[in-house]
Amino acid sequence: MKITINNLQDTKKVGKIISENLLSGTVLCLDGDLGAGKTTLTQFIANEFGIKEYITSPTFNIIKEYQGKFPLYHMDVYRIESEDDMYDLGYDDYIYSDGICIIEWSDKIKNMLPEERVNIYIQRGEDENTRIFSVTGKGIVFEKIVEELKNENTCN
Ligand SMILES: Nc1ncnc2c1ncn2[C@@H]1O[C@H](COP(=O)(O)OP(=O)(O)OP(=O)(O)O)[C@@H](O)[C@H]1O
Ligand SMILES: [Mg+2]
Repeated sequence: MKITINNLQDTKKVGKIISENLLSGTVLCLDGDLGAGKTTLTQFIANEFGIKEYITSPTFNIIKEYQGKFPLYHMDVYRIESEDDMYDLGYDDYIYSDGICIIEWSDKIKNMLPEERVNIYIQRGEDENTRIFSVTGKGIVFEKIVEELKNENTCN
């Protein structure tokens, strides 16, 4: 499904809906150009999730850990060169943990992603603060998020 985001407030709303539906072990993949809003959406999700810290893209350290309702593992795999790099970082332990994984630039490791996941592709729109979110995925968390987003009037 696709939704049009008019401003940061809309992104915050989506973050809230996502946060309310996350289950232990959920993998959320965020893709889209530099500055699309992947970290911004992560920040909103994290806030709703009881995390007070300021979230920055962990581009250099790849993975950052936060503690909310569940542990949140925030990854930015932009600089990853090979699957081995990911294994060396303990990727499997994170992906199959009880925490939540949010992965920016997930397309770089697409062959390593679990089948059951939520993908959000963010595109810029006409205006400075406009975005198009394309939501795809598989599994119960994906289905619930789509259902709730459809109930929002931002839906196309
Ligand atoms: N509706 C919106 N949703 C998200 N971000 C928005 C929106 N409107 C404007 N912005 C701005 O766009 C920028 C998005 O930056 P952000 O760091 O979240 O991008 P990113 O996709 O994580 O980039 P990178 O690939 O460099 O990590 C922020 O400055 C944010 O305030
Ligand atoms: Mg980012």
